[in-house]
Amino acid sequence: MDMTTQAATDAQADARADLSVRKARPKDVGEISRIVNFYAASQQMLPKTHLQLYENLRDFSVVEDGAGRILACGALHLYWENLAEIRAIAVTDGMARKGIGTILAERLVEEARELGLDEVFCFTYVPRFFNSLGFIQVEHSVLPLKVYNECFQCPKFNKCDEIAMVLHLRV
Ligand SMILES: CC(C)(COP(=O)(O)OP(=O)(O)OC[C@H]1O[C@@H](n2cnc3c(N)ncnc32)[C@H](O)[C@@H]1OP(=O)(O)O)[C@@H](O)C(=O)NCCC(=O)NCCS
Repeated sequence: MDMTTQAATDAQADARADLSVRKARPKDVGEISRIVNFYAASQQMLPKTHLQLYENLRDFSVVEDGAGRILACGALHLYWENLAEIRAIAVTDGMARKGIGTILAERLVEEARELGLDEVFCFTYVPRFFNSLGFIQVEHSVLPLKVYNECFQCPKFNKCDEIAMVLHLRV
């Protein structure tokens, strides 16, 4: 590793040292909405209303910096005894590719393990990110029908181009 690359890596590590992950609180909904709907505007994610966020808030965790600013959000949504989805994971604009998404996703996976789940899945346009966490690509058809419940609300229903990925927790 040359000195410039090392300096960049050190700077990222310093930035991450200041971060913490915690469960979301009702007062975070405005900021979660801002982050998610920023990406929804360019069809990278599904939009979320404040009502949807409040109703599912207990699924959400956030990453905050030392000053209490929320830099990322993401949710673990339970589907069945052994299965949950990582969804609505996003890093605030301008803070991508600094390892923040990884910190949050690892916490959501840890939460899934604590719940005793066998598998976590996601639908995504960024398979490389989930691949870096150990997820593998699967056919949509391997996931149980129940997980498609929300798809009825999606404008891309019947022409879904998201990639289905699964992380097996008991290997
Ligand atoms: C996807 C997202 C959550 C990843 O968070 P992040 O903090 O940027 O990701 P990290 O820095 O932890 O990335 C870890 C690795 O994942 C991969 N990765 C992350 N984002 C990627 C992207 N957009 N394209 C390709 N690979 C990506 C890379 O291998 C990266 O390692 P590297 O930067 O050393 O090459 C974030 O970029 C984001 O908010 N994207 C927009 C919203 C979105 O699409 N969310 C996913 C919904 S399923």
